[in-house]
Amino acid sequence: MYDYDLLVVGSANADLVIDVERRPTAGETVLGGDLAVHPGGKGANQAVAAARLGARTALLGRVGDDGHGRLLLDSLRAAGVDTAGVLVGGAPTGVALITVDPSGDNSIVVSPGANGRLAPRDVRAAAPLVHACPVVSTQLEIPLETVVEVVRNLAPGSRFVLNPSPPRPLPSEVLAACDPLIVNEHEARVILDDARLGEDPEDWAHLLLAEGPRSVVVTLGAQGALVCDGSGARRVPSVKVDAVDTTGAGDAFTAALAWKLGSGAALAEAAAYAARVGAAAVTKRGAQESYPTAEEVGAL
Ligand code: RIB
Repeated sequence: MYDYDLLVVGSANADLVIDVERRPTAGETVLGGDLAVHPGGKGANQAVAAARLGARTALLGRVGDDGHGRLLLDSLRAAGVDTAGVLVGGAPTGVALITVDPSGDNSIVVSPGANGRLAPRDVRAAAPLVHACPVVSTQLEIPLETVVEVVRNLAPGSRFVLNPSPPRPLPSEVLAACDPLIVNEHEARVILDDARLGEDPEDWAHLLLAEGPRSVVVTLGAQGALVCDGSGARRVPSVKVDAVDTTGAGDAFTAALAWKLGSGAALAEAAAYAARVGAAAVTKRGAQESYPTAEEVGAL
């Protein structure tokens, strides 16, 4: 029996969000709406999304000893995330500067701050926590060597889920552990050699699978997702909703998928549920504040 359903190892950021009519080009200034400050970061977002769905969730991360760090700890605890693994201090809390356009699409610049100080030794020190979870999920707003250390410290039989965002080339040791590797088109193009890629997501999934992961999920926004493992590729539909803000929807998708896989669902079934969670998340503003409960997903 595990103590938790899911451990997320990853970032926590204060999201500084401004609505804009359009993004500025180089050298240009545009006026936007009022500044909003939300709890975010791909790791904290995943943890909050899973906890809100009902998963027993813990986060291993690092925030600064500052107001943004307290904002994040408050949000995590309010959602029911176990924050005993969230280290405090060493650098200011990570910050994400986000613009959201009228279609709900965003652009993000992240200053990692304390996330960049989450070190391999922090993973080794948290080995009992890592071993207390059947599924461990990470992203790339923390140092890659820390993600490698997570892979090296997994308990036998536990499952490793990676959303390589922001994307960078990955060592084969990490790729081989992924079950699944979860990417959008942009991430797929970075992980693979862009020149090899055509326009068919099924080809991307097969090329990614050939790099070593046990399974691959390609997210396709409003078009749903594509799941691929040794038994072949399958399309998973999305739910049609009116998008207000897509920020953090991918994190909610990953968290829901990871939790469902840990509770025994097949990959396509878990991805179909995750697509509903991601769809619900785009209907509200912000990242963590937009995440649905299981009841809200059921009503979608
Ligand atoms: O995926 C969305 C997240 O990316 C935001 O919450 C922001 O913090 C950045 O990490």
